[in-house]
Amino acid sequence: MASTKSQVKSSAYHAEMDEAERASRDAIMALQTRRLAWSLKHAYENVAHYRQAFDKAGVRPEDFTQLSDLAKFPFTVKTDLRDNYPFNMFAVPREKLVRVHASSGTTGKPIVVGYTQADIDIWSEVMARSIRAAGGRTGMILHNAYGYGLFTGGLGAHYGAERLGCTVVPVSGGMTERQVQLINDFRPDIITVTPSYMLAISDEFKRQKLDPRRSSLKFGIFGAEPWTNAMRAEIEATFEMDATDIYGLSEVIGPGVAQECVETKDGLHVWEDHFYPEVIDPETGRVLPDGEKGELVFTSLTKEAFPIIRYRTRDLTRLLPGTARPGMRRMEKVTGRSDDMIILRGVNVFPTQIEEALLATDWCGGHFIIELTRQGRMDEMTVLAEARRESWDGDGLVAQAEKVSSFIKNTIGVTAQVRAVAPGTLERSLGKAKRVYDKRPKG
Ligand code: DLL
Repeated sequence: MASTKSQVKSSAYHAEMDEAERASRDAIMALQTRRLAWSLKHAYENVAHYRQAFDKAGVRPEDFTQLSDLAKFPFTVKTDLRDNYPFNMFAVPREKLVRVHASSGTTGKPIVVGYTQADIDIWSEVMARSIRAAGGRTGMILHNAYGYGLFTGGLGAHYGAERLGCTVVPVSGGMTERQVQLINDFRPDIITVTPSYMLAISDEFKRQKLDPRRSSLKFGIFGAEPWTNAMRAEIEATFEMDATDIYGLSEVIGPGVAQECVETKDGLHVWEDHFYPEVIDPETGRVLPDGEKGELVFTSLTKEAFPIIRYRTRDLTRLLPGTARPGMRRMEKVTGRSDDMIILRGVNVFPTQIEEALLATDWCGGHFIIELTRQGRMDEMTVLAEARRESWDGDGLVAQAEKVSSFIKNTIGVTAQVRAVAPGTLERSLGKAKRVYDKRPKG
């Protein structure tokens, strides 16, 4: 079994890249300069918000002549999009849209994004490229467990897989028992799903007494939420597959903005022929040099319906030189969003750091939540970590959990009470996992 899987993998390493993936850094930068000039003009001439924002900042599209000029243009933030709900950020008449998507948002109105046919074509192309970079090939079967609907994950992966020439199984999220049945019966090569839901699928394999390593899955394309290299190791070992990271956001296009290449697994190549990344200091807005960590900002280069200029994603990462695709820079795996950062007694901590600490044990398989409470004037953090089925023996894990508490204290510097809970106790997400439950009194 193992040898069959690895044979497919080794032949798949010889990617047939498209022209942009083979382009030199200089060629990509020249293309970006041309496309940025078009995109800034397109946004300015057709979207009232951009016209006002550029005027207010005293810049005109003509002021852009080289890539470094982009820094003169104003940022766009989530509230700008929300204030223009539902259709006022569009740069084409509504009749030209072939589709809209919306990001749920935890409070208030969602953010609506739209696509012309040309936008859908580009999205399909970057998604097809992403699936291929992850190891996928024409003729393979792809099990798509990203949610279909207003969320961009399901349809984004679907159109990309069709474009690549895969047979798509459009399962969407949920009904975990049936996911496993379909994987067994249809024998897909590729799965597209959030990493947290992949763990739920893995549990279901075990519950049905099936060995996930004997499944047909060879490539997993995981994203829509932060996840760690420790989680990659866990999933790869469980399914004996290659797991890569895919990044994207509705405001920029959806999944397929950046993708990790299976041959290097060293961070995600940004598809820079369509999306221009910057990393800024979140406090000052200053553009940081490549290699420095900060907030990721994107400008679309080719989008017609919903051009986006210097959009502040709130995602934290840094830009690195290209490797497997030398013309395109990589972004390091996103550690978290600035909104997810927990500040506990002055120490900053991200859920991904807790994930890493838990996966360093042999008793926790990666299902966990973080609860924040207040005792008197002190904030407290409790990590509820689910034990693996084979490790659970009632309360015997108390000492093991304490070890993780000390590890967290020593490595991250925050005091967290870690409690091992029985397998199957924590609620499973069907899409993006909710990791942090803030039960502190408001105000
Ligand atoms: O999550 C698009 C997507 C679907 C990406 C499927 C990958 C796979 P939104 O719902 O708009 O779009 O959420 C975007 O999710 O700003 C990040 O905070 C987070 N995110 C997405 N991909 C990753 C990733 C989709 N690979 C927001 N690592 C983004 C970490 C991610 N965070």
